[in-house]
Parts: sequence; C-alpha cells; structure tokens
Amino acid sequence: MSLTPESFAFVADLVARRSAIQLAPGKEYLVESRLLPLARDAGTDVNTFIAGLRAQPTSPLTTAVVEAMTTNETSWFRDGAPYQALRRAELPRLVAARGGVGRLRVWSAACSTGQEPYSLAMCLRDELPAAMTAEIVATDLSEQVLARARTGRYSQLEVNRGMPAQMLVQHLRRVGTEWEVADALRRMITFRAHNLLDVPPAGPFDVVFLRNVLIYFDAATKRGILDRVLRVLRPDGVLVLGAAETTLGVHDGWERVTIDRTSVYRPLGAPNLSSVPTPHRAPLAPTGTDGAPSPIGHTHRSVTSLAATTRPTAPGGPVR
Ligand SMILES: C[S@@+](CC[C@H](N)C(=O)[O-])C[C@H]1O[C@@H](n2cnc3c(N)ncnc32)[C@H](O)[C@@H]1O
Repeated sequence: MSLTPESFAFVADLVARRSAIQLAPGKEYLVESRLLPLARDAGTDVNTFIAGLRAQPTSPLTTAVVEAMTTNETSWFRDGAPYQALRRAELPRLVAARGGVGRLRVWSAACSTGQEPYSLAMCLRDELPAAMTAEIVATDLSEQVLARARTGRYSQLEVNRGMPAQMLVQHLRRVGTEWEVADALRRMITFRAHNLLDVPPAGPFDVVFLRNVLIYFDAATKRGILDRVLRVLRPDGVLVLGAAETTLGVHDGWERVTIDRTSVYRPLGAPNLSSVPTPHRAPLAPTGTDGAPSPIGHTHRSVTSLAATTRPTAPGGPVR
C-alpha cells in the first residue's frame, strides 16, 4: 500500500517543525521506506501507523519518526581536504594565536554516529603541542546515532570508509569483530543531544565542524543556524562546512578562506594571526529559524598553498 497524501503531509509537517528537514513532494517513497520498520514494530502498515500518530500528536513515537527521517551518512576524515586544512593551516594558526598553551574547544555539530568527532580528536592529538589540550562537544538531533557514537565501536565495514591504516592501529583496538576507539580519544569528547534550531551549546568554540547538514534546510533556517554559530565561535575561530555547503549568499557575517582544495569560513573581520583575548560574545537569545534577512556580502581570501608545509598523510592510505 502506498503512502496517502494525508500521511505524507502529516510527516512532512512534523519533520519540518521538529528538525527543519524539508521533505519535498516526491519523497513519499523515502518516507514510506524509512517508517516501515516503525510500523512493523507496531504491528501495522505505514498509513495506519501515521493515522495513530495523528490521533496522538504527543506520542513519543513522533520523535522516532523524526529520527527515522534523518540521513546519517558519514565517514572517517570525510572528504579529506577539510581535515588537511585543519591540520596544516587552522590548528597551527590557532595554536600560535594561543601562544601554544591552554585548551582548544571544538564543536562537531550534527555529528551522526561519531566518525567526525573521533576523526577530529585524532587530528588534535597529533597536532597540538604538549602544553595544549582539546575538548570536543559532539551533538546531533538523533539520540539513536548518539547512542552508537558513544559506544566508540565500529564494524570493519565502517572502519573501511576513510580510516587510514596508520590511524587505525594508532587509535583503535580490535574487540572481537569490531574496532573500538581508544579511551584517550573518547575522553576528549562529550556527546549530547542538540537540535540546530535551538540555542547552541555554551561557547566559546575555536573550531566548529557543521558538515553535510545545512543541505537539508531552507535558506532562512541556514541563516539562523549560521547566526547562532557565529555567536559561539571565537572571533578568530574557524567554521568548516560540507563540500556542497557555503555561507555565501546565505549569511554575510563570514569570510571564505580557500586553503588548497577546500574552503573554510572565519567570522568576518577576524584577526589574522594575532593572539585574541577572546571576549565572549553576547549571551545567546533563542533566535528561531527565521531571523530577518541581512544584506548578503561576499568576502573571500586565499591563504598560501599548503603544499610546501603539507606533510604526507598517514602512510598506507585508507584501509581496504
Ligand atoms: C549526513 S549527517 C552528517 C554527519 C557528519 N557531520 C558528516 O559530515 O559526516 C547529518 C546529521 O545531521 C543530523 N541532523 C539533522 N537535522 C538536525 C537538526 N535540526 N539538528 C541537529 N542535527 C540534525 C542528522 O541526525 C544526521 O546525523
């Protein structure tokens, strides 16, 4: 039985209100296939399952529906280049700005099953001087993916997706048929539920990874999220987006900086290399998703190619 227009409209509205994920007409098949396991658990078909939710809009099952509609695709060191830019340009810049001491704070927003924050933890452990520590706050809307992330356990198939061989032996250990992330890395990360429509985790952060999630939102939602991120990022901090995402044409408070094959974003007017006494920006007020549009600017700078400073990546390349 295919999804009725009423069922689709109810789910699309619920998911948009709770997560801002847009389910355009034509996604009926996606909704049906994602909700089928929930309907089966409830011993019914998808339309009857949704009719039950419409009759009981406060049911906890509505949360399960929203989570089922999230796309949790992820991998280790996803796309490679952003992590190289972090290692070779942004971390050295931030370390210099902090005088090589203290703590860097990183927010991995929409972290899915944890490959992103664990990849970040590996980079930080490798690159930070002994007198510096790092803390990673890793968040996602979905409690299900967070529960998986917290285990720090991955199958061989998952490890095969982007994990360099040297990193694998250095930072994970085999447990039965799985691989487990080392305690030292796990201690660096706090996983917690957070909806990007809400007030962000308490800043300030030096680095924000917000990758492969803005693509699901409309322009006003993207603008609201970028605004909130700007408020918790240090003035000389860095924002890293997904390959298909940009601040350009969406929010004019950011400067795009090209680093070799990728771009990162810094708060507009960010100091270049100097140490910043990091005044915490104004406390956050909930801004909702549809703040007034601001004039769209476009600022872009390139930093010197990293080629000269780039050390080879972990030998061995991705594990096969
Ligand atoms: C495609 S994954 C990206 C994972 C990781 N950042 C990466 O680039 O590999 C998108 C994640 O965004 C999360 N997400 C979707 N809407 C969200 C929202 N409104 N607030 C927080 N997380 C959200 C989903 O649960 C999902 O885990």
